[in-house]
Amino acid sequence: MLLLSAFVSAALARAISAAVVPSKASSFAGSTSTFQFPPADVTSTATLINSFFPDASEVGFAGPTPTGDEAESVATAPALSPVKGYFPLVRPDTSDRKGKDFNVVESWANLSPMQSVKSFGLDNATERIPEGCKINQVFLLHRHGARYPTSGSSPSTFAANVHSAAGNGTFIATGPLEFLNTWTYKLGAELLTPFGREQLFNLGVGFRVKYGDLLKNFTGLPVWRTTSEARMVDSALHFAAGFFGVQSYQSSYYQVIEIEKEGFNSTLVPWDQCPNANNDIYTLGDDATKAWNNVYLVDAQKRFAQYLPGFNLTIDDVAGMQALCPYETVALGYSAFCDLFTEEEWKGFAYGIDLNFWYGDGPGNPAVSAQGIGWVQELVSRLTKTRITTFDSTLNGTIVGNNVTFPLDQPIYVDASHDTVISAVLPAMNFTLFAAGGPLPLDHIPENQTYKTREIAPFASRLVGQVLSCPASDTPTHIRWLLNDGVLPLTGIQGCGYDSNGLCEFDTFIAGMKQRIEEVDFVFDCFANYSLSLDNDTITNGQFPQ
Ligand SMILES: *[C@@H]1O[C@H](CO)[C@@H](O)[C@H](O)[C@H]1NC(C)=O
Ligand SMILES: *[C@@H]1O[C@H](CO)[C@@H](O)[C@H](O)[C@H]1NC(C)=O
Ligand SMILES: *[C@@H]1O[C@H](CO)[C@@H](O)[C@H](O)[C@H]1NC(C)=O
Ligand SMILES: *[C@@H]1O[C@H](CO)[C@@H](O)[C@H](O)[C@H]1NC(C)=O
Ligand SMILES: *[C@@H]1O[C@H](CO)[C@@H](O)[C@H](O)[C@H]1NC(C)=O
Ligand SMILES: *[C@@H]1O[C@H](CO)[C@@H](O)[C@H](O)[C@H]1NC(C)=O
Ligand SMILES: *[C@@H]1O[C@H](CO)[C@@H](O)[C@H](O)[C@H]1NC(C)=O
Ligand SMILES: *[C@@H]1O[C@H](CO)[C@@H](O)[C@H](O)[C@H]1NC(C)=O
Ligand SMILES: *[C@@H]1O[C@H](CO)[C@@H](O)[C@H](O)[C@H]1NC(C)=O
Ligand SMILES: *[C@@H]1O[C@H](CO)[C@@H](O)[C@H](O)[C@H]1NC(C)=O
Ligand SMILES: *[C@@H]1O[C@H](CO)[C@@H](O)[C@H](O)[C@H]1NC(C)=O
Repeated sequence: MLLLSAFVSAALARAISAAVVPSKASSFAGSTSTFQFPPADVTSTATLINSFFPDASEVGFAGPTPTGDEAESVATAPALSPVKGYFPLVRPDTSDRKGKDFNVVESWANLSPMQSVKSFGLDNATERIPEGCKINQVFLLHRHGARYPTSGSSPSTFAANVHSAAGNGTFIATGPLEFLNTWTYKLGAELLTPFGREQLFNLGVGFRVKYGDLLKNFTGLPVWRTTSEARMVDSALHFAAGFFGVQSYQSSYYQVIEIEKEGFNSTLVPWDQCPNANNDIYTLGDDATKAWNNVYLVDAQKRFAQYLPGFNLTIDDVAGMQALCPYETVALGYSAFCDLFTEEEWKGFAYGIDLNFWYGDGPGNPAVSAQGIGWVQELVSRLTKTRITTFDSTLNGTIVGNNVTFPLDQPIYVDASHDTVISAVLPAMNFTLFAAGGPLPLDHIPENQTYKTREIAPFASRLVGQVLSCPASDTPTHIRWLLNDGVLPLTGIQGCGYDSNGLCEFDTFIAGMKQRIEEVDFVFDCFANYSLSLDNDTITNGQFPQ
């Protein structure tokens, strides 16, 4: 009875509001709202106040503190726990299939929270190390966690357009878009969000439980790398906090922070030293996304325009509205933009980003293997314990040439980087799996698409190399690679044949990587004055055709 009357009154309220003439948006609609914590004046009294709050070492009485042994669940557990779920983010609906199986979160491509990939075709292989093998060493190349939009991207442009119209008194939003009349833009730019911090902390915890036993073979403190961008440092520290714990992480390892800025060499930010990288001279990735937006967003543009009389709603605006869904959700936990779009439009959103990565930061771009090859050179240096002496790519000789900042004997390597670096390292290593099905069409989503950004470079993405000995010994005999917990087939890499566990012989793999370093022409691909457009871009290996 109570339920029924609540239902009736809600329906009545809707009927009344529909009859009311829509009012203009408030003048603050679309404005940017920000907040700073802690308050600016608290530090002036910190010394005085802090004397009331001695830290744990001053207080003492920690209770018993016996330590246990290290974990190594990749070797000891019969099966490993996948990353699944994204608490505290609210899972959205679509506008057309509320409550059905389709999950909008899985259509966010590089803006998706990382979820374990079940299989890249090796259905029987798991993260667990193969029977009869021992893990000798592990490599981790990971992406930062969920962040705000990059500066000046489509969500903030849409907000600015709304705000400008609201200021002119021309903005009226009705129907499902009525919320825009009081909506403000609450996103900053570039920084990690609270959920992004959780992702990296969890990655650190997971890595300790899976590979902690390898700590026993360090002779000094680990040296792990990140770049200088705020979200990159934040990500690296949260990883370490998860791995070592907040009471001891600062004294448990050394953090290398490579400068992320034009003019500085770093394999973790290679585009700054590659003028032909996407968005500099060539905009293949963005061109592809723009072309596709004009295909899949036309219906949404028509649908929304009727609720925004007096507002010139462009395709770019609609793209900005759709991107606001993942960005608001990973920052604020929920977004009213999500369920404005249909299931097909969400599939279209993912494909637009897949196109951007394929043509801009993946196999379809002529300067991408060149951007990934510096990290591959470092990998070979670490695997062969041979110091690099020639710096002919994005390598930074000051860092890589030094045995303090670039040790060659670590059982656990951790490099923090970006989505577009992971997507560049894959073709640089010749993982031809992702080249299959390319080049990607600009006017429809292909059947059986294998190149999915959600599986390659989601927030907190991870590429893991397991160095193994089979049978167990102190000398590595094999290596294999996992991308977001899915084992990668190594069949594209010369010498590495099919293996149901994704294994390749250690020396064969290194020889393949050395050959890749010869095959990739860094200077030509990054600096030459060549010409390529979407009409004739048939590249699938991230290199300009020789
Ligand atoms: C996985 O194992 C099953 C059962 O042993 C086998 O039939 C199947 O072919 C294997 N699949 C792959 C991809 O190796
Ligand atoms: C670590 O080092 C010890 C002795 O130096 C060796 O016995 C052990 O096998 C090594 N562990 C790994 C995983 O390589
Ligand atoms: C608002 O007014 C300014 C100044 O007259 C104008 O440049 C701008 O295009 C207007 N914006 C909209 C959305 O009408
Ligand atoms: C290499 O890295 C060091 C340390 O961050 C920095 O001082 C130096 O400028 C970098 N060199 C180049 C060529 O980028
Ligand atoms: C609407 O925006 C588009 C793209 O910016 C522009 O080409 C067009 O002239 C605008 N139309 C009106 C009526 O302002
Ligand atoms: C930086 O990279 C350029 C281009 O490959 C190279 O010429 C230069 O020697 C590198 N500098 C350092 C310090 O590694
Ligand atoms: C690093 O190199 C220096 C000089 O080449 C050498 O003296 C030192 O022992 C090396 N340190 C390590 C930890 O390998
Ligand atoms: C897609 O995969 C299905 C099932 O494996 C197959 O029947 C179909 O022919 C494939 N389509 C294309 C275009 O390759
Ligand atoms: C990389 O892939 C290409 C194309 O499949 C092949 O020709 C080349 O030999 C491969 N190189 C290595 C080192 O695997
Ligand atoms: C690149 O080549 C084109 C046509 O060959 C020429 O017009 C252009 O000036 C060249 N750009 C540079 C930077 O050399
Ligand atoms: C691609 O097409 C452009 C013209 O749109 C032409 O200038 C260029 O040479 C072509 N590149 C290749 C690799 O065929």
